[in-house]
Amino acid sequence: MEQILDLLGNYVSEAFELAGYEKDLGKVTISNRPDLCEYQCNGAMAGAKRYHKAPVMIAQDVAQVLEGCDAFESVQAVPPGFLNLKLSANLLAGYLNEMKEDPRLGVPAVEQGKTVIIDYGGANVAKPLHVGHLRSAVIGESVKRILRFLGHHTIGDVHLGDWGLQMGLIIAQLHEEQPDLPYFDENWTGAYPEEAPFTISELEQIYPQASKRSKEDEAFRAEALKATEQLQHGHRGYRALWQHILDVSCADLKKNYDSLNVSFELWKKESDAQPYIPDLVDYLKREGYAHLDQGALVVDVAEESDTKKIPPCMILKSDGASLYNTTDLATIVMRMENWKPDHIIYVVDKRQDLYFTQVFRCARKAKLVNGDTQLTFLGFGTMNGKDGKPFKTRDGGVMRLENLIADIDEEMLRKICENHEADPEQARETAKTVALSAIKYGDLSNQASKDYVFDVEKFTSFEGNTGPYILYTIVRIKSILRKYQEETGRSDEALADLKILAPAGESEKALGLSLTGFTPAVLLAGEELAPHKICGYIYELANQLNHFYHETKILTESAEAQRESYIALLLLTLRVLECGIDLLGFFAPDKM
Ligand code: ARG
Repeated sequence: MEQILDLLGNYVSEAFELAGYEKDLGKVTISNRPDLCEYQCNGAMAGAKRYHKAPVMIAQDVAQVLEGCDAFESVQAVPPGFLNLKLSANLLAGYLNEMKEDPRLGVPAVEQGKTVIIDYGGANVAKPLHVGHLRSAVIGESVKRILRFLGHHTIGDVHLGDWGLQMGLIIAQLHEEQPDLPYFDENWTGAYPEEAPFTISELEQIYPQASKRSKEDEAFRAEALKATEQLQHGHRGYRALWQHILDVSCADLKKNYDSLNVSFELWKKESDAQPYIPDLVDYLKREGYAHLDQGALVVDVAEESDTKKIPPCMILKSDGASLYNTTDLATIVMRMENWKPDHIIYVVDKRQDLYFTQVFRCARKAKLVNGDTQLTFLGFGTMNGKDGKPFKTRDGGVMRLENLIADIDEEMLRKICENHEADPEQARETAKTVALSAIKYGDLSNQASKDYVFDVEKFTSFEGNTGPYILYTIVRIKSILRKYQEETGRSDEALADLKILAPAGESEKALGLSLTGFTPAVLLAGEELAPHKICGYIYELANQLNHFYHETKILTESAEAQRESYIALLLLTLRVLECGIDLLGFFAPDKM
Protein backbone atom coordinates (compact mmCIF):
# COMPACT_ATOMS: atom_id res chain seq x y z
CA MET A 1 0.00 0.00 0.00
CA GLU A 2 1.05 3.54 -0.59
CA GLN A 3 2.79 5.36 2.22
CA ILE A 4 1.05 8.29 3.76
CA LEU A 5 3.84 10.75 2.92
CA ASP A 6 3.86 9.64 -0.70
CA LEU A 7 0.11 9.84 -0.84
CA LEU A 8 0.11 13.42 0.43
CA GLY A 9 3.13 14.24 -1.68
CA ASN A 10 1.17 13.31 -4.79
CA TYR A 11 -1.54 15.83 -3.98
CA VAL A 12 0.90 18.61 -3.23
CA SER A 13 3.11 17.86 -6.25
CA GLU A 14 0.11 18.06 -8.51
CA ALA A 15 -0.82 21.37 -6.94
CA PHE A 16 2.67 22.73 -7.60
CA GLU A 17 2.27 21.73 -11.22
CA LEU A 18 -1.18 23.24 -11.55
CA ALA A 19 0.17 26.47 -10.05
CA GLY A 20 2.85 26.53 -12.73
CA TYR A 21 5.82 25.16 -10.81
CA GLU A 22 7.77 21.96 -11.05
CA LYS A 23 6.31 18.85 -9.52
CA ASP A 24 9.41 17.72 -7.60
CA LEU A 25 8.92 20.57 -5.12
CA GLY A 26 5.88 18.89 -3.63
CA LYS A 27 7.61 16.60 -1.15
CA VAL A 28 5.71 16.27 2.13
CA THR A 29 7.30 15.52 5.51
CA ILE A 30 6.02 15.06 9.02
CA SER A 31 5.64 18.43 10.69
CA ASN A 32 8.37 19.58 13.00
CA ARG A 33 5.86 21.94 14.59
CA PRO A 34 3.13 19.50 15.67
CA ASP A 35 1.49 22.36 17.57
CA LEU A 36 0.76 24.08 14.25
CA CYS A 37 0.18 21.31 11.77
CA GLU A 38 0.48 17.61 11.11
CA TYR A 39 2.52 17.64 7.90
CA GLN A 40 4.46 20.22 6.00
CA CYS A 41 5.98 20.93 2.61
CA ASN A 42 9.09 23.09 2.25
CA GLY A 43 9.14 23.01 -1.55
CA ALA A 44 8.41 26.71 -1.98
CA MET A 45 11.67 27.52 -0.20
CA ALA A 46 13.61 25.46 -2.73
CA GLY A 47 11.53 26.91 -5.56
CA ALA A 48 12.45 30.48 -4.64
CA LYS A 49 15.86 30.25 -6.28
CA ARG A 50 14.53 28.43 -9.30
CA TYR A 51 11.78 30.99 -10.00
CA HIS A 52 13.37 34.12 -8.49
CA LYS A 53 10.28 34.65 -6.44
CA ALA A 54 9.57 35.08 -2.75
CA PRO A 55 8.94 31.62 -1.29
CA VAL A 56 5.81 32.73 0.51
CA MET A 57 4.28 33.76 -2.80
CA ILE A 58 4.92 30.35 -4.29
CA ALA A 59 3.46 28.75 -1.15
CA GLN A 60 0.39 30.96 -1.49
CA ASP A 61 -0.10 29.96 -5.11
CA VAL A 62 0.03 26.30 -4.19
CA ALA A 63 -2.22 26.76 -1.15
CA GLN A 64 -4.80 28.37 -3.40
CA VAL A 65 -4.83 25.35 -5.70
CA LEU A 66 -5.16 23.04 -2.72
CA GLU A 67 -8.12 24.93 -1.33
CA GLY A 68 -11.05 22.60 -1.30
CA CYS A 69 -8.85 19.56 -1.94
CA ASP A 70 -10.49 16.80 0.04
CA ALA A 71 -7.17 15.33 1.20
CA PHE A 72 -6.63 18.20 3.60
CA GLU A 73 -8.59 19.72 6.41
CA SER A 74 -6.49 22.86 6.11
CA VAL A 75 -3.61 24.19 4.04
CA GLN A 76 -1.77 27.31 5.15
CA ALA A 77 1.02 29.20 3.49
CA VAL A 78 3.09 30.77 6.25
CA PRO A 79 6.18 32.93 6.13
CA PRO A 80 8.90 32.49 5.09
CA GLY A 81 7.30 29.94 2.73
CA PHE A 82 6.17 26.80 4.45
CA LEU A 83 3.00 24.95 3.62
CA ASN A 84 1.38 23.78 6.84
CA LEU A 85 -0.94 20.86 6.27
CA LYS A 86 -3.63 19.14 8.24
CA LEU A 87 -4.97 15.86 7.02
CA SER A 88 -8.64 15.47 6.25
CA ALA A 89 -10.50 13.09 8.51
CA ASN A 90 -11.71 11.10 5.50
CA LEU A 91 -8.29 10.56 4.05
CA LEU A 92 -7.02 9.44 7.44
CA ALA A 93 -9.84 6.94 7.84
CA GLY A 94 -9.21 5.63 4.34
CA TYR A 95 -5.55 5.13 5.10
CA LEU A 96 -6.26 3.40 8.42
CA ASN A 97 -8.75 1.03 6.80
CA GLU A 98 -6.19 0.12 4.19
CA MET A 99 -3.57 -0.40 6.87
CA LYS A 100 -5.98 -2.62 8.76
CA GLU A 101 -6.45 -4.87 5.71
CA ASP A 102 -2.72 -5.29 5.24
CA PRO A 103 -1.11 -8.16 7.19
CA ARG A 104 2.10 -6.07 7.21
CA LEU A 105 0.25 -3.06 8.61
CA GLY A 106 1.37 -0.91 5.71
CA VAL A 107 5.10 -1.56 6.07
CA PRO A 108 6.52 -2.35 2.62
CA ALA A 109 8.87 -5.31 2.23
CA VAL A 110 12.10 -4.64 0.34
CA GLU A 111 12.08 -5.82 -3.25
CA GLN A 112 15.37 -7.63 -3.02
CA GLY A 113 16.10 -8.96 0.42
CA LYS A 114 19.75 -9.05 1.42
CA THR A 115 21.43 -11.91 3.24
CA VAL A 116 22.45 -10.47 6.57
CA ILE A 117 24.45 -12.30 9.22
CA ILE A 118 24.07 -10.86 12.67
CA ASP A 119 26.88 -11.83 15.03
CA TYR A 120 25.48 -11.43 18.50
CA GLY A 121 25.31 -13.21 21.81
CA GLY A 122 29.04 -13.85 21.95
CA ALA A 123 28.77 -16.03 25.06
CA ASN A 124 31.79 -17.96 26.19
CA VAL A 125 31.56 -21.67 26.76
CA ALA A 126 31.92 -22.82 30.37
CA LYS A 127 31.57 -19.31 31.69
CA PRO A 128 28.18 -18.27 32.99
CA LEU A 129 26.31 -15.65 30.99
CA HIS A 130 26.72 -12.33 32.72
CA VAL A 131 25.10 -8.97 32.22
CA GLY A 132 27.75 -7.99 29.66
CA HIS A 133 26.20 -10.53 27.34
CA LEU A 134 22.70 -9.25 27.97
CA ARG A 135 22.98 -6.22 25.73
CA SER A 136 24.38 -8.14 22.79
CA ALA A 137 21.58 -10.70 23.02
CA VAL A 138 18.82 -8.14 23.44
CA ILE A 139 19.95 -5.65 20.81
CA GLY A 140 21.05 -8.29 18.30
CA GLU A 141 17.77 -10.14 18.52
CA SER A 142 15.79 -6.96 17.92
CA VAL A 143 17.93 -5.83 14.99
CA LYS A 144 17.51 -9.26 13.46
CA ARG A 145 13.73 -9.15 13.86
CA ILE A 146 13.49 -5.67 12.35
CA LEU A 147 15.56 -6.62 9.31
CA ARG A 148 13.66 -9.85 8.88
CA PHE A 149 10.35 -8.01 9.00
CA LEU A 150 11.61 -5.67 6.31
CA GLY A 151 12.15 -8.66 4.05
CA HIS A 152 15.83 -9.49 4.48
CA HIS A 153 17.18 -13.00 4.85
CA THR A 154 18.63 -12.82 8.35
CA ILE A 155 20.94 -15.32 10.01
CA GLY A 156 21.76 -14.90 13.67
CA ASP A 157 25.04 -16.49 14.75
CA VAL A 158 25.87 -16.82 18.45
CA HIS A 159 29.60 -17.11 17.70
CA LEU A 160 30.51 -18.86 20.92
CA GLY A 161 33.89 -18.33 22.49
CA ASP A 162 35.24 -21.86 22.85
CA TRP A 163 38.81 -21.63 21.72
CA GLY A 164 40.83 -19.64 24.15
CA LEU A 165 42.80 -20.16 27.31
CA GLN A 166 39.58 -20.76 29.22
CA MET A 167 39.49 -24.27 27.79
CA GLY A 168 43.04 -25.01 28.85
CA LEU A 169 42.30 -23.66 32.32
CA ILE A 170 39.38 -26.02 32.77
CA ILE A 171 41.31 -28.98 31.44
CA ALA A 172 44.29 -28.27 33.70
CA GLN A 173 42.05 -27.90 36.73
CA LEU A 174 40.20 -31.14 35.96
CA HIS A 175 43.49 -32.90 35.46
CA GLU A 176 44.43 -32.03 39.00
CA GLU A 177 41.09 -32.84 40.56
CA GLN A 178 40.39 -36.05 38.70
CA PRO A 179 43.72 -37.33 37.33
CA ASP A 180 42.34 -40.83 36.80
CA LEU A 181 39.91 -39.81 34.07
CA PRO A 182 40.75 -41.57 30.79
CA TYR A 183 41.10 -38.20 29.01
CA PHE A 184 44.41 -37.76 30.80
CA ASP A 185 45.70 -41.25 30.11
CA GLU A 186 48.10 -40.89 27.19
CA ASN A 187 47.88 -44.62 26.47
CA TRP A 188 44.13 -44.71 26.25
CA THR A 189 43.03 -45.92 22.84
CA GLY A 190 39.44 -46.93 23.56
CA ALA A 191 36.35 -44.85 23.30
CA TYR A 192 35.79 -42.17 25.92
CA PRO A 193 32.76 -42.16 28.20
CA GLU A 194 29.59 -40.69 26.77
CA GLU A 195 28.66 -39.07 30.01
CA ALA A 196 30.43 -35.80 30.90
CA PRO A 197 32.52 -35.98 34.08
CA PHE A 198 30.83 -32.84 35.47
CA THR A 199 27.46 -31.10 35.68
CA ILE A 200 26.89 -27.53 34.55
CA SER A 201 27.10 -26.19 38.09
CA GLU A 202 30.37 -28.03 38.66
CA LEU A 203 31.67 -26.73 35.37
CA GLU A 204 30.76 -23.19 36.27
CA GLN A 205 32.70 -23.49 39.50
CA ILE A 206 35.76 -24.93 37.83
CA TYR A 207 36.34 -21.98 35.54
CA PRO A 208 36.44 -19.13 38.08
CA GLN A 209 38.61 -21.23 40.39
CA ALA A 210 41.04 -22.07 37.64
CA SER A 211 41.09 -18.52 36.34
CA LYS A 212 41.83 -17.12 39.79
CA ARG A 213 44.53 -19.68 40.37
CA SER A 214 46.26 -19.00 37.07
CA LYS A 215 46.82 -15.44 38.18
CA GLU A 216 48.59 -16.51 41.36
CA ASP A 217 50.23 -19.76 40.36
CA GLU A 218 52.81 -19.52 37.56
CA ALA A 219 53.21 -23.28 37.21
CA PHE A 220 49.47 -23.81 36.94
CA ARG A 221 49.21 -21.12 34.30
CA ALA A 222 51.93 -22.84 32.29
CA GLU A 223 49.98 -26.11 32.55
CA ALA A 224 46.84 -24.38 31.28
CA LEU A 225 48.69 -22.80 28.36
CA LYS A 226 50.16 -26.14 27.45
CA ALA A 227 46.77 -27.83 27.63
CA THR A 228 45.32 -25.08 25.40
CA GLU A 229 48.00 -25.67 22.83
CA GLN A 230 47.58 -29.45 22.99
CA LEU A 231 43.84 -29.10 22.59
CA GLN A 232 44.34 -26.85 19.58
CA HIS A 233 46.72 -29.37 18.06
CA GLY A 234 44.18 -32.14 18.34
CA HIS A 235 45.06 -34.01 21.57
CA ARG A 236 42.53 -36.84 21.51
CA GLY A 237 41.59 -36.90 25.18
CA TYR A 238 41.38 -33.11 25.43
CA ARG A 239 39.23 -32.96 22.34
CA ALA A 240 36.82 -35.42 23.91
CA LEU A 241 36.79 -33.43 27.12
CA TRP A 242 36.28 -30.20 25.21
CA GLN A 243 33.28 -31.77 23.46
CA HIS A 244 31.77 -32.56 26.87
CA ILE A 245 32.36 -28.99 28.01
CA LEU A 246 30.65 -27.74 24.86
CA ASP A 247 27.65 -30.04 25.17
CA VAL A 248 27.01 -29.30 28.83
CA SER A 249 27.57 -25.59 28.39
CA CYS A 250 25.50 -25.18 25.22
CA ALA A 251 22.49 -26.92 26.75
CA ASP A 252 22.62 -24.41 29.58
CA LEU A 253 23.21 -21.43 27.31
CA LYS A 254 20.24 -22.39 25.17
CA LYS A 255 18.07 -22.47 28.25
CA ASN A 256 19.26 -19.02 29.22
CA TYR A 257 18.77 -17.54 25.78
CA ASP A 258 15.34 -19.17 25.62
CA SER A 259 14.28 -17.42 28.77
CA LEU A 260 15.32 -14.15 27.10
CA ASN A 261 13.25 -15.04 24.02
CA VAL A 262 16.46 -14.95 22.02
CA SER A 263 17.31 -17.62 19.46
CA PHE A 264 20.01 -18.19 16.89
CA GLU A 265 19.89 -19.74 13.45
CA LEU A 266 23.53 -20.73 13.80
CA TRP A 267 25.38 -22.04 16.83
CA LYS A 268 28.81 -21.58 15.35
CA LYS A 269 31.84 -21.38 17.56
CA GLU A 270 35.29 -19.88 17.32
CA SER A 271 36.59 -23.41 16.90
CA ASP A 272 34.57 -23.84 13.69
CA ALA A 273 36.71 -21.16 12.07
CA GLN A 274 40.02 -22.78 12.96
CA PRO A 275 40.19 -25.11 9.93
CA TYR A 276 40.13 -22.01 7.71
CA ILE A 277 43.22 -20.50 9.31
CA PRO A 278 46.07 -22.35 7.54
CA ASP A 279 44.77 -21.46 4.07
CA LEU A 280 44.04 -17.93 5.15
CA VAL A 281 47.58 -17.47 6.43
CA ASP A 282 49.04 -18.91 3.22
CA TYR A 283 46.87 -16.66 1.13
CA LEU A 284 47.76 -13.51 3.08
CA LYS A 285 51.46 -14.31 2.72
CA ARG A 286 51.28 -15.36 -0.91
CA GLU A 287 49.37 -12.30 -2.04
CA GLY A 288 51.70 -10.04 -0.09
CA TYR A 289 49.07 -8.65 2.25
CA ALA A 290 50.89 -9.87 5.35
CA HIS A 291 54.48 -9.36 6.36
CA LEU A 292 56.69 -10.27 9.30
CA ASP A 293 57.19 -7.71 11.99
CA GLN A 294 59.51 -8.76 14.85
CA GLY A 295 58.62 -12.38 14.14
CA ALA A 296 54.88 -11.81 14.12
CA LEU A 297 52.78 -11.96 10.97
CA VAL A 298 50.83 -8.74 10.51
CA VAL A 299 48.71 -6.87 7.96
CA ASP A 300 49.06 -3.08 7.89
CA VAL A 301 45.69 -1.42 8.05
CA ALA A 302 46.55 2.23 8.72
CA GLU A 303 45.14 4.71 6.19
CA GLU A 304 46.38 8.13 5.24
CA SER A 305 43.28 9.89 6.43
CA ASP A 306 43.52 8.38 9.94
CA THR A 307 43.52 10.91 12.72
CA LYS A 308 44.61 8.37 15.30
CA LYS A 309 47.02 5.50 14.99
CA ILE A 310 45.47 2.27 13.81
CA PRO A 311 47.92 -0.53 14.66
CA PRO A 312 48.49 -3.40 12.23
CA CYS A 313 46.19 -6.39 12.42
CA MET A 314 48.16 -9.28 13.91
CA ILE A 315 47.56 -12.66 12.26
CA LEU A 316 50.09 -14.89 13.99
CA LYS A 317 52.16 -14.27 17.09
CA SER A 318 55.90 -14.88 16.85
CA ASP A 319 55.39 -18.36 18.36
CA GLY A 320 52.98 -19.14 15.52
CA ALA A 321 49.84 -19.02 17.66
CA SER A 322 46.73 -17.47 16.17
CA LEU A 323 44.67 -14.81 17.91
CA TYR A 324 41.15 -13.50 18.41
CA ASN A 325 41.72 -11.47 15.19
CA THR A 326 42.72 -14.50 13.23
CA THR A 327 39.59 -16.31 14.34
CA ASP A 328 37.39 -13.38 13.33
CA LEU A 329 39.04 -13.14 9.91
CA ALA A 330 38.72 -16.89 9.39
CA THR A 331 35.09 -16.63 10.46
CA ILE A 332 34.55 -14.04 7.74
CA VAL A 333 36.05 -16.45 5.21
CA MET A 334 33.79 -19.23 6.50
CA ARG A 335 30.73 -17.01 6.31
CA MET A 336 31.48 -15.82 2.79
CA GLU A 337 32.00 -19.38 1.65
CA ASN A 338 28.87 -20.82 3.22
CA TRP A 339 26.27 -18.07 3.27
CA LYS A 340 27.56 -15.33 0.93
CA PRO A 341 26.24 -12.54 3.14
CA ASP A 342 25.69 -9.08 1.67
CA HIS A 343 26.07 -7.63 5.12
CA ILE A 344 27.59 -8.78 8.42
CA ILE A 345 26.61 -6.93 11.58
CA TYR A 346 28.56 -7.37 14.82
CA VAL A 347 26.67 -6.51 17.98
CA VAL A 348 29.54 -6.26 20.44
CA ASP A 349 30.68 -4.07 23.34
CA LYS A 350 31.80 -0.72 21.92
CA ARG A 351 35.17 -1.11 23.61
CA GLN A 352 35.99 -3.49 20.76
CA ASP A 353 35.55 -0.67 18.25
CA LEU A 354 39.21 -0.26 17.33
CA TYR A 355 39.60 -4.01 17.15
CA PHE A 356 36.80 -4.32 14.61
CA THR A 357 38.17 -1.39 12.62
CA GLN A 358 41.35 -3.43 12.21
CA VAL A 359 39.50 -6.63 11.34
CA PHE A 360 37.23 -4.91 8.79
CA ARG A 361 40.09 -3.07 7.12
CA CYS A 362 42.12 -6.23 6.93
CA ALA A 363 39.17 -8.16 5.46
CA ARG A 364 38.65 -5.47 2.82
CA LYS A 365 42.27 -4.96 1.97
CA ALA A 366 42.88 -8.70 1.57
CA LYS A 367 39.60 -9.06 -0.36
CA LEU A 368 38.20 -11.64 2.02
CA VAL A 369 34.85 -9.99 1.32
CA ASN A 370 33.38 -8.66 -1.91
CA GLY A 371 33.70 -5.00 -2.69
CA ASP A 372 30.05 -4.43 -1.87
CA THR A 373 29.83 -6.60 1.25
CA GLN A 374 28.86 -4.36 4.11
CA LEU A 375 30.59 -4.83 7.46
CA THR A 376 29.01 -3.02 10.38
CA PHE A 377 30.13 -2.73 13.96
CA LEU A 378 27.14 -2.04 16.15
CA GLY A 379 28.92 -1.23 19.40
CA PHE A 380 26.92 -0.92 22.58
CA GLY A 381 27.69 0.92 25.78
CA THR A 382 28.02 -0.42 29.29
CA MET A 383 25.09 -1.32 31.48
CA ASN A 384 25.73 0.50 34.73
CA GLY A 385 24.25 0.22 38.19
CA LYS A 386 22.60 3.16 39.91
CA ASP A 387 26.03 4.20 41.22
CA GLY A 388 27.09 4.81 37.61
CA LYS A 389 29.59 1.95 37.71
CA PRO A 390 29.29 -1.30 35.75
CA PHE A 391 26.45 -3.37 37.11
CA LYS A 392 27.50 -5.68 39.94
CA THR A 393 25.90 -7.96 42.51
CA ARG A 394 25.31 -6.58 45.99
CA ASP A 395 28.62 -8.03 47.16
CA GLY A 396 30.45 -6.55 44.20
CA GLY A 397 30.78 -9.69 42.07
CA VAL A 398 29.91 -10.11 38.42
CA MET A 399 26.14 -10.43 38.16
CA ARG A 400 25.00 -13.65 36.53
CA LEU A 401 22.29 -13.03 34.00
CA GLU A 402 20.14 -15.77 35.47
CA ASN A 403 20.15 -14.06 38.86
CA LEU A 404 19.41 -10.68 37.41
CA ILE A 405 16.39 -12.10 35.60
CA ALA A 406 15.23 -13.93 38.73
CA ASP A 407 15.48 -10.67 40.72
CA ILE A 408 13.36 -8.78 38.22
CA ASP A 409 10.85 -11.66 38.07
CA GLU A 410 10.47 -11.44 41.85
CA GLU A 411 10.06 -7.68 41.81
CA MET A 412 7.42 -7.94 39.09
CA LEU A 413 5.57 -10.67 40.95
CA ARG A 414 5.50 -8.52 44.06
CA LYS A 415 4.03 -5.62 42.09
CA ILE A 416 1.44 -7.74 40.36
CA CYS A 417 0.24 -9.33 43.59
CA GLU A 418 0.17 -5.89 45.18
CA ASN A 419 -2.21 -4.68 42.49
CA HIS A 420 -4.73 -7.44 42.75
CA GLU A 421 -5.27 -10.94 43.92
CA ALA A 422 -4.19 -13.44 41.36
CA ASP A 423 -3.90 -17.14 40.97
CA PRO A 424 -0.29 -17.76 42.11
CA GLU A 425 0.63 -19.96 39.16
CA GLN A 426 -0.78 -17.48 36.67
CA ALA A 427 0.78 -14.53 38.48
CA ARG A 428 4.21 -16.14 38.24
CA GLU A 429 3.81 -16.68 34.51
CA THR A 430 2.60 -13.12 33.97
CA ALA A 431 5.39 -11.73 36.15
CA LYS A 432 7.94 -13.46 33.91
CA THR A 433 6.41 -12.00 30.77
CA VAL A 434 6.27 -8.50 32.21
CA ALA A 435 9.79 -8.80 33.66
CA LEU A 436 11.14 -9.67 30.22
CA SER A 437 9.54 -6.54 28.82
CA ALA A 438 11.06 -4.50 31.66
CA ILE A 439 14.57 -5.78 31.00
CA LYS A 440 14.45 -5.59 27.22
CA TYR A 441 12.64 -2.29 26.88
CA GLY A 442 14.87 -0.77 29.57
CA ASP A 443 17.83 -1.63 27.41
CA LEU A 444 16.41 -1.04 23.92
CA SER A 445 14.84 2.33 24.64
CA ASN A 446 18.35 3.77 24.90
CA GLN A 447 20.47 4.39 21.87
CA ALA A 448 22.66 1.28 21.78
CA SER A 449 26.00 3.07 21.75
CA LYS A 450 25.24 4.92 25.00
CA ASP A 451 25.95 3.60 28.48
CA TYR A 452 22.79 3.29 30.50
CA VAL A 453 21.76 2.82 34.08
CA PHE A 454 19.93 -0.38 34.87
CA ASP A 455 17.36 1.03 37.26
CA VAL A 456 15.14 -1.79 38.51
CA GLU A 457 12.68 0.61 40.14
CA LYS A 458 12.21 2.58 36.94
CA PHE A 459 12.23 -0.32 34.48
CA THR A 460 9.57 -2.27 36.36
CA SER A 461 7.22 0.68 36.76
CA PHE A 462 3.82 0.57 35.07
CA GLU A 463 4.10 4.26 34.35
CA GLY A 464 6.40 6.19 32.06
CA ASN A 465 8.54 5.01 29.20
CA THR A 466 8.81 1.36 30.24
CA GLY A 467 8.07 -2.11 28.95
CA PRO A 468 5.42 -2.76 31.62
CA TYR A 469 3.62 0.45 30.58
CA ILE A 470 3.47 -0.74 26.98
CA LEU A 471 2.19 -4.14 28.08
CA TYR A 472 -0.30 -2.50 30.39
CA THR A 473 -1.65 -0.52 27.44
CA ILE A 474 -1.91 -3.65 25.32
CA VAL A 475 -3.71 -5.52 28.09
CA ARG A 476 -6.08 -2.59 28.47
CA ILE A 477 -7.06 -2.84 24.80
CA LYS A 478 -7.40 -6.61 25.01
CA SER A 479 -9.72 -6.27 27.96
CA ILE A 480 -12.00 -3.79 26.16
CA LEU A 481 -12.13 -6.01 23.10
CA ARG A 482 -12.93 -9.02 25.27
CA LYS A 483 -15.80 -7.19 26.93
CA TYR A 484 -17.09 -6.05 23.58
CA GLN A 485 -17.01 -9.60 22.25
CA GLU A 486 -18.73 -10.96 25.35
CA GLU A 487 -21.46 -8.40 25.00
CA THR A 488 -22.02 -8.71 21.26
CA GLY A 489 -21.04 -12.33 20.73
CA ARG A 490 -18.92 -11.23 17.78
CA SER A 491 -16.12 -13.49 16.57
CA ASP A 492 -12.53 -12.39 15.95
CA GLU A 493 -13.24 -12.42 12.20
CA ALA A 494 -16.26 -10.21 12.65
CA LEU A 495 -14.15 -7.80 14.67
CA ALA A 496 -11.51 -7.69 11.98
CA ASP A 497 -14.19 -6.68 9.46
CA LEU A 498 -15.29 -3.57 11.33
CA LYS A 499 -14.55 -0.30 9.56
CA ILE A 500 -12.89 2.79 10.93
CA LEU A 501 -14.90 5.98 10.41
CA ALA A 502 -13.50 9.46 9.96
CA PRO A 503 -12.39 10.65 13.40
CA ALA A 504 -14.78 13.04 15.08
CA GLY A 505 -12.72 14.01 18.10
CA GLU A 506 -9.29 15.45 18.73
CA SER A 507 -7.81 12.48 20.60
CA GLU A 508 -9.26 10.04 18.10
CA LYS A 509 -7.58 11.86 15.24
CA ALA A 510 -4.32 12.07 17.15
CA LEU A 511 -4.41 8.32 17.68
CA GLY A 512 -5.09 7.74 13.99
CA LEU A 513 -2.23 10.03 12.99
CA SER A 514 0.05 8.24 15.38
CA LEU A 515 -0.85 4.93 13.73
CA THR A 516 0.27 6.28 10.36
CA GLY A 517 3.71 6.77 11.89
CA PHE A 518 4.34 3.04 12.14
CA THR A 519 5.85 2.56 8.69
CA PRO A 520 8.30 5.48 8.90
CA ALA A 521 9.36 4.33 12.37
CA VAL A 522 10.10 0.77 11.24
CA LEU A 523 11.89 1.93 8.10
CA LEU A 524 14.07 4.29 10.11
CA ALA A 525 14.84 1.63 12.71
CA GLY A 526 15.90 -0.70 9.91
CA GLU A 527 18.02 1.89 8.16
CA GLU A 528 19.84 2.94 11.31
CA LEU A 529 19.81 -0.49 12.99
CA ALA A 530 18.18 1.33 15.86
CA PRO A 531 15.56 -0.49 17.95
CA HIS A 532 15.20 2.62 20.13
CA LYS A 533 13.31 4.22 17.24
CA ILE A 534 10.66 1.52 17.61
CA CYS A 535 10.53 2.12 21.37
CA GLY A 536 10.10 5.85 20.87
CA TYR A 537 7.31 5.20 18.41
CA ILE A 538 5.32 2.67 20.43
CA TYR A 539 5.64 4.80 23.54
CA GLU A 540 4.09 7.71 21.69
CA LEU A 541 1.37 5.45 20.29
CA ALA A 542 0.61 4.01 23.74
CA ASN A 543 0.29 7.55 25.10
CA GLN A 544 -2.14 8.49 22.32
CA LEU A 545 -4.15 5.37 22.96
CA ASN A 546 -4.43 6.08 26.67
CA HIS A 547 -5.34 9.68 26.01
CA PHE A 548 -8.08 8.54 23.64
CA TYR A 549 -9.26 5.98 26.18
CA HIS A 550 -9.62 8.58 28.92
CA GLU A 551 -11.45 11.02 26.65
CA THR A 552 -13.85 8.56 25.08
CA LYS A 553 -16.77 6.44 26.21
CA ILE A 554 -16.00 3.45 24.09
CA LEU A 555 -18.20 0.56 25.18
CA THR A 556 -21.07 2.79 26.25
CA GLU A 557 -21.17 4.72 22.98
CA SER A 558 -24.78 4.55 21.84
CA ALA A 559 -24.36 5.06 18.09
CA GLU A 560 -23.51 1.54 16.96
CA ALA A 561 -21.49 2.47 13.85
CA GLN A 562 -19.39 4.84 15.96
CA ARG A 563 -18.84 2.19 18.59
CA GLU A 564 -17.77 -0.30 15.94
CA SER A 565 -15.34 2.24 14.55
CA TYR A 566 -13.80 2.72 18.00
CA ILE A 567 -13.38 -1.03 18.33
CA ALA A 568 -11.75 -1.22 14.89
CA LEU A 569 -9.39 1.59 15.85
CA LEU A 570 -8.47 -0.19 19.08
CA LEU A 571 -7.89 -3.43 17.24
CA LEU A 572 -5.56 -1.75 14.76
CA THR A 573 -3.67 -0.07 17.60
CA LEU A 574 -3.35 -3.42 19.32
CA ARG A 575 -1.90 -5.02 16.20
CA VAL A 576 0.62 -2.23 15.75
CA LEU A 577 1.71 -2.34 19.39
CA GLU A 578 2.04 -6.11 19.32
CA CYS A 579 3.98 -6.00 16.08
CA GLY A 580 6.21 -3.33 17.65
CA ILE A 581 7.03 -5.36 20.75
CA ASP A 582 7.58 -8.44 18.62
CA LEU A 583 10.24 -6.47 16.76
CA LEU A 584 11.78 -5.66 20.12
CA GLY A 585 11.70 -9.32 21.09
CA PHE A 586 9.05 -9.57 23.78
CA PHE A 587 5.32 -10.22 23.98
CA ALA A 588 2.26 -9.37 26.06
CA PRO A 589 0.10 -11.44 28.38
CA ASP A 590 -3.70 -11.48 28.00
CA LYS A 591 -4.27 -10.15 31.47
CA MET A 592 -2.12 -8.67 34.17
N1 ARG B 1 33.13 -13.85 23.08
C1 ARG B 1 33.45 -12.46 22.98
C2 ARG B 1 33.42 -11.81 24.37
O1 ARG B 1 32.85 -12.34 25.31
C3 ARG B 1 32.50 -11.71 22.09
C4 ARG B 1 32.49 -12.17 20.67
C5 ARG B 1 32.02 -11.08 19.73
N2 ARG B 1 31.97 -11.46 18.34
C6 ARG B 1 33.03 -11.57 17.53
N3 ARG B 1 32.86 -11.99 16.31
N4 ARG B 1 34.24 -11.27 17.93
O2 ARG B 1 33.97 -10.72 24.49
